Amino acid sequence: MRLFTTVVALRCYLELESKGQTVGLVPTMGALHPGHLSLIERARASNDIVVVSIFVNPLQFGPNEDLLRYPQRLEGDRLLCEQAGVNVIFAPTPEEMGIIEGTEDSLTQVGPPQSMMSGLCGRSRPGHFQGVATIVTKLFNVVEPDRAYFGRKDAQQLAILQRIVRDLNRTVEIVPCEIVREASGLAMSSRNQYLSDEEKARAAVLYRSLQKAQKVFLGGELTRQGIIAAVQGELSLEPDVNLEYCELVEPTSLEPIDSIESAGLVAIAARIGNTRLIDNIILKDR
Ligand code: PAJ
Repeated sequence: MRLFTTVVALRCYLELESKGQTVGLVPTMGALHPGHLSLIERARASNDIVVVSIFVNPLQFGPNEDLLRYPQRLEGDRLLCEQAGVNVIFAPTPEEMGIIEGTEDSLTQVGPPQSMMSGLCGRSRPGHFQGVATIVTKLFNVVEPDRAYFGRKDAQQLAILQRIVRDLNRTVEIVPCEIVREASGLAMSSRNQYLSDEEKARAAVLYRSLQKAQKVFLGGELTRQGIIAAVQGELSLEPDVNLEYCELVEPTSLEPIDSIESAGLVAIAARIGNTRLIDNIILKDR
């Protein structure tokens, strides 16, 4: 396995090695866990060369968010990637990616449609999805992958990136990957390590509430009101879980919907202590 920290070194390697070979890219911010590893496994199964990027992207963190304390564990990540059969880790500095503190406003950024950025997590994280779209587009330009792997855990991110690829005529295939969960049902996340054991146990209510939504939906409930009431009812059984939002949306456009016709996804964000967690469930896919 190779580790590159510069664009030029990575490009040189790919130039030499990738002729006639397929390249799969797994973009991450590191602190790898089984959720990330499931993406790497998917990439390993379908591509000749697997590139994992590890980059804590300053553009997608707000001023009061956890950029400075975001977990960084390059040595451990390196071992996990090696064991998973990764060919290349790309771990650039912000400067290498053209991001210099204080000059972000003069950087060309990729602007996803407002309608997709303004709802759900966009409401409390202005600028976040533009930062994600910009860095992922830059990674696509540097690596030129045939396929790129993203988790359904970040459903809004996935929908926005699929839209960008379509709107900007990129040829990369976006491969959505299922959510990997703890035994308790809690969706795995690098941020789960901010939770105490007691908070972790409480956080499992998020998935239980989504399962409740699925249960009422399968029982014939199609309306936004009925489905969201089911989620809220379950969440209210657990004290000190502060719901930020619970929404029923169309999974591709992210438009809020009043009832499920062709497709529907329930997304939630909640705070447990100081930690913000997200989760979602697809009730009906196209
Ligand atoms: P990060 O949070 O490190 O996640 C990297 C990828 O792993 C994302 O596609 C995310 O959806 C996926 N992932 C995380 N937890 C998962 C889980 N429990 N099950 C399945 N997939 C999971 O998302 C980002 O980084 C960044 O925004 C990035 C796309 C790298 C751009 O900076």
